[in-house]
Amino acid sequence: MYKYLPQPVLDTFEKLPVKKTVSTVMGGIMLVSPKLHHRLNQFLLLGPYRGDVVETIQENLYRLEDGEIDQVEFLDIVRDAVREVAVNGEFDEWIEQGAQDTDAITLAGSTLHAPGKEWFLRIFMIEEGEQDYPHQHNSLSSFQVIQSGELRLREYARGERIDDDLIELDKVTDGVLEPGDTFETTEMEPNAHWFEGESDVVSVNFNMRGYWDENDRYLDADETGRHYLLPVQAVPDDKLYGKETSKDVVESVLSD
Ligand SMILES: [Fe+2]
Repeated sequence: MYKYLPQPVLDTFEKLPVKKTVSTVMGGIMLVSPKLHHRLNQFLLLGPYRGDVVETIQENLYRLEDGEIDQVEFLDIVRDAVREVAVNGEFDEWIEQGAQDTDAITLAGSTLHAPGKEWFLRIFMIEEGEQDYPHQHNSLSSFQVIQSGELRLREYARGERIDDDLIELDKVTDGVLEPGDTFETTEMEPNAHWFEGESDVVSVNFNMRGYWDENDRYLDADETGRHYLLPVQAVPDDKLYGKETSKDVVESVLSD
């Protein structure tokens, strides 16, 4: 089982606007005719997988865009759907095909269904001892379902921004995930994480960009995506901070 440490109190963030990245023709079509847009979305899908989960993603994406559900509810629905089929072997054929020579397989995705928004359903192969170094997600939400193996996971919640490149962190969880376990990262959930294969791991990942807007209270960055953090502790109070820096710097410190 995945053991949770005590939840810290999440601090309120100063919010700044997010850059809208891509503007597409399909966004214009969505404004004209939602139903036409929904039909055309079927032709915009990427990747080889077209199982029921893709339909669940698309249907609930429309509900999210229509304001029927929020992004946390959307992710909960999709995560439960992905988890159910993953543990029943839905993705096994893709995993077997790709396991030998790749570290990620894109099952399905869409980058053109709405301006600045995208989603992907992927499989990650993480080797024993391989680390995904600490990083925060800005307007990038994701969840993972562990398909096989054991994954060491540390999660952090962002606190106050102290400096241009320094933010307070609270360690929220530190544990080992087993097959069937899941974890989520959103603006509202623990927003930074650091994981490492305790063994060879296969993990099903869903991620989406561009769905948080300036009304969301934890948004504090102007570039979407993942941004690396070097966890550092203050002397003498041991308070934990994240220094925003390059992956190379984080890797050079933490790779030993
Ligand atoms: Fe991440």
